[in-house]
Amino acid sequence: MSEAHEVKNPWEQKDQQMEQIKNRMNKIQHKIAIISGKGGVGKSLVTVNLAMGLADNGRVAILDADLTGPCVPKMLGLKGTKMRAGPTGIAPVVGPKGVEVVSMDFLLPNDEAPVIWRGPLKMGAIRQFLGEVAWGEQEFLLVDLPPGTGDESLSILQLLPEMDGVIIVTIPSEVSQAVVKKAITFARKMNVPVFGIVENMSGMICPHCGETINVFSEGGGAKVSEEMNVELLGSIPMDPKVSVDSDAGVPFILNNPDSPASKAFREIIEKIVKKVK
Ligand SMILES: Nc1ncnc2c1ncn2[C@@H]1O[C@H](COP(=O)(O)OP(=O)(O)O)[C@@H](O)[C@H]1O
Ligand SMILES: [Mg+2]
Repeated sequence: MSEAHEVKNPWEQKDQQMEQIKNRMNKIQHKIAIISGKGGVGKSLVTVNLAMGLADNGRVAILDADLTGPCVPKMLGLKGTKMRAGPTGIAPVVGPKGVEVVSMDFLLPNDEAPVIWRGPLKMGAIRQFLGEVAWGEQEFLLVDLPPGTGDESLSILQLLPEMDGVIIVTIPSEVSQAVVKKAITFARKMNVPVFGIVENMSGMICPHCGETINVFSEGGGAKVSEEMNVELLGSIPMDPKVSVDSDAGVPFILNNPDSPASKAFREIIEKIVKKVK
């Protein structure tokens, strides 16, 4: 056989990869993506805390699809761990409550190493994460996305047409509201149900006087929810302990179950469970 005949037709290869993704993803019952208009609004924080709560309802996996700024391993105390190749594919890292995590961070040599990739490479990595990871049987897959409507978000929504829904994270400021509408329109254009909005950093209770300080103004989530006809799933207050816990790699909802933020998380989780059942 000549060499030319041994080279696989790229279309055939892509079909095989799509088949592989389908087979792997068939094992997961519910898939939910966490998106936002802007960065730093708390997507990763929401993802890890929802995962911890959802783990009471069944097995949960997280795909950290923020390839250039992966944060999930740090927030779950999994820094320094590596994913290894197993007999049936790349093995996810197992975190608190048995949650299985896949992240670019587990593949990078150190914290200073950046990922400098153009779109096609990012899409390739997402395809590999979906198709070549040995995902076990799971009730939920949460996909933590980078901000906005770029390559990673587009790839995920294209490759997972069976996505149950997206959760949109925003903060109450008007600047954030202006871009969050783009994220909602994006999900609708991709024909993915929008489960609703989570308003994060929604006021902060002063530890000294007990009064609420609206750091990023007030009522932004409710306003977008009304204007875009999307449910407001809940509002999570700002709490300095949230930041301390995520820096320490301890899931807040497990470490501070009685705080108002954890209560808000639990209400959101209940709504999500109802939506998928
Ligand atoms: N409600 C909150 N109270 C205090 N700190 C928060 C809160 N939500 C998020 N943070 C902190 O803000 C930072 C950004 O959150 P992150 O989840 O990484 O945002 P994103 O994934 O949207 O970029 C993190 O350090 C996180 O711990
Ligand atoms: Mg993030």
